Amino acid sequence: MFILDVKDKVPLYRQLYNQIREQVLSGKLPAHAKLPSVRDLATELQSSRNTVEGAYQELFAEGYIYSRQRSGYFVSPIDQPVAPVSRSRAVRKSERPRQREPRFRFDFHPARLDPDGFPMAQWRSSLLETLRESPAELSHYGGFQGDWELRCNIQRYLERSRGVMCGPERIFIGAGLQQSLDLVAHLLRKGHSALAVENPGYHLPRAVFQNNGFEIRPVEVGSGGMDLEGLRASRSTVAYVTPSHQMPLGQVMPVANRLNLIDWAMSGGNVIIEDDYDSELRYYGKPIPSLQGLRPDADIIYLGTFSKILSPALRLSYMVLPSSLLAGFRALYGDYFPTVSLLEQRAMAKFMAHGYWERHIRRMRIVYHKKHDAMLKAIEQHFGDRGTVIGAGAGLHVILELQNAPCAESTIIRDAAARGINLFPFSVTCIGGTPAWTRLMLGFGGMSVAEIDPGIKLLSELCLKVP
Ligand SMILES: Cc1ncc(COP(=O)(O)O)c(C=O)c1O
Repeated sequence: MFILDVKDKVPLYRQLYNQIREQVLSGKLPAHAKLPSVRDLATELQSSRNTVEGAYQELFAEGYIYSRQRSGYFVSPIDQPVAPVSRSRAVRKSERPRQREPRFRFDFHPARLDPDGFPMAQWRSSLLETLRESPAELSHYGGFQGDWELRCNIQRYLERSRGVMCGPERIFIGAGLQQSLDLVAHLLRKGHSALAVENPGYHLPRAVFQNNGFEIRPVEVGSGGMDLEGLRASRSTVAYVTPSHQMPLGQVMPVANRLNLIDWAMSGGNVIIEDDYDSELRYYGKPIPSLQGLRPDADIIYLGTFSKILSPALRLSYMVLPSSLLAGFRALYGDYFPTVSLLEQRAMAKFMAHGYWERHIRRMRIVYHKKHDAMLKAIEQHFGDRGTVIGAGAGLHVILELQNAPCAESTIIRDAAARGINLFPFSVTCIGGTPAWTRLMLGFGGMSVAEIDPGIKLLSELCLKVP
């Protein structure tokens, strides 16, 4: 007995196909059982013969049924002990997953970007130009290292704006920090087993290295960045650092410490991973040149991303490898396909070649500068001397350290969420217990200038209330 539903979006022949297939796989229709003739079944279902013919043909083509001359269709013997759920039913049952995060009235998450900031017109024209120019390339995978033109453009940009010294042959295009670090960790695990990370520090690289068998050794961060004595004492041989804008505290590692860190790498056969994730966003003075540019021949793996200025949804980032790791990297991943769509790599190459990228950086720097200043003003006004700002002047967030906070971070985050405020927990960046002070990470990228003041006002009311 089969039932067809004319209101269902699934075509009638497909509904019939699914039901017969399910009965064949579950054994309800046993091997060699004869199926009704096309005409009989069409009459029984009050459908057209094409519907039945279509279902039978598909079942036949996939081997669920076979035909005997002038006798019709029969069920094929299938060695299948487990009865699968009907595909059509399974599809109907599975609902679109609910959004992971509720929408907040005030979203202070530090990873949010300006919702209107994406350069739609320039990106569209770069993408269309790519489609027009290289349709034949769409039948290719592209090389693992990434599009040559894009790498050349990134090389010029990095040299000009970040002082990074390398040729395009040392640049690898990747789909974000974690994916690039995964390749690096797998490569390094032969000779290294412990990774030093900043504490507090960006939390996501930890899991990547742990998954590759590394031990994670936290090293304290002071006003000069990662503590070098602590690094030496940790006996780690790889260090992940954010020297141009420490994540999350925002310090810049002074040049003397940078040189000492490089010395640690060069004299001990150690490796530095420099994550230069948002150095375009410096609101006063000039951007800080990279660590890599100080000693391009040292074992420094330099990582950058398009996530902060352009879009994290593109999953487009780059990595500059030291010469010493190039051969090993190519040997290990020579047969891999690229992880970023060639189309988007090409579009990005055009976006850069037309000067859109640098123009966009200048535009976003102005946009975020205004939001940054609005954030500082609102904090000053609503927290006064009850809070101290750390790490102002760059990036997409500041840290607010609360003086004599009446409650713990978890309570503040819970109460804030109940009032429509999203906060990312600062404690996630800390390894080894809850910090003694209460610090809030206040991202301003995703908020409009007009939202910042009322958001901070509301936050101050619940942070400063007497318990
Ligand atoms: C410290 C740090 N590095 C890198 C990134 C960017 O990573 P991805 O390129 O995977 O988007 C971020 C994004 O928030 C970050 O905070």
